[in-house]
Amino acid sequence: MERIVIIGASSGIGRELAKYYINLGCIVGVAARREELLQEIKSINPSNVFIKVMDVTKPEGKDQLNELINEMVGMDRFIYCSGVGYINKDINIEQEIQTVEVNVYGFTHLIDVAYHYFQTKGTGHIVGISSVAGVRTISISPSYSASKRYNYIYLKAISQLAKQNKENIKTTTILPGFIRTDLLKSRNYPLTTSIEKGGKMIFKAIQREKKIAFCPAYWGVISFFMLLTPPFIWNRIIK
Ligand SMILES: NC(=O)c1ccc[n+]([C@@H]2O[C@H](COP(=O)([O-])OP(=O)(O)OC[C@H]3O[C@@H](n4cnc5c(N)ncnc54)[C@H](OP(=O)(O)O)[C@@H]3O)[C@@H](O)[C@H]2O)c1
Repeated sequence: MERIVIIGASSGIGRELAKYYINLGCIVGVAARREELLQEIKSINPSNVFIKVMDVTKPEGKDQLNELINEMVGMDRFIYCSGVGYINKDINIEQEIQTVEVNVYGFTHLIDVAYHYFQTKGTGHIVGISSVAGVRTISISPSYSASKRYNYIYLKAISQLAKQNKENIKTTTILPGFIRTDLLKSRNYPLTTSIEKGGKMIFKAIQREKKIAFCPAYWGVISFFMLLTPPFIWNRIIK
């Protein structure tokens, strides 16, 4: 029976993925700060779901993840979904730093724990959620845009490292477009996909162990044109 850990499973994409894996009959470990939401997920199949209340910005995340893996008696796939993001034209420092703590510090910290675990085990799959917001500079969300670029580069680097070391550790980087979750609640965005559709696409990409997946796929084409757009036009679009 496959054992999946999902960090940031209390809402949005992580919660949707947790439901898919529970329905598939997997052993699923779910972590986030909001315990009541994790308990709701556990209630779907109490014997197969393990919960860990965790704030990924704290150093104890490493021990908490190891505890969760022990309680589940192992892990085959690690999915990091925790993330925050703000439209932050005023560069509110607290929001900028919180974004770095969750999207960069927590991401790196826990992915490294998973990497070492899979090194010892000899095999494993690490999944991270970047974003099309990391494809090109988004002036109105500086730390979010930069953090999503970081997610993409970091996973690419550890994937290369695993290959160089001949380790059987696979990575999948998901680049979602706009998927209707709490993350987008501050604004109306174009081309928004429902969480049901978006979650299904992301689940399929993970199951296929794709290296990189835009979800929905047409965001790959949009990203291509984003990169081709001359800076003076891009600066007018992103306001
Ligand atoms: N929705 C989109 O359109 C979209 C597009 C591109 C990329 N993404 C990425 O997808 C990922 C998931 O976002 P979402 O859209 O599903 O948003 P969401 O519904 O707001 O989910 C965010 C998750 O992150 C967790 N989280 C936040 N701060 C945390 C902390 N300090 N410690 C532990 N967990 C924390 C939340 O759990 P608690 O609050 O319970 O801790 C929640 O489970 C993020 O990385 C986001 O950047 C989303």
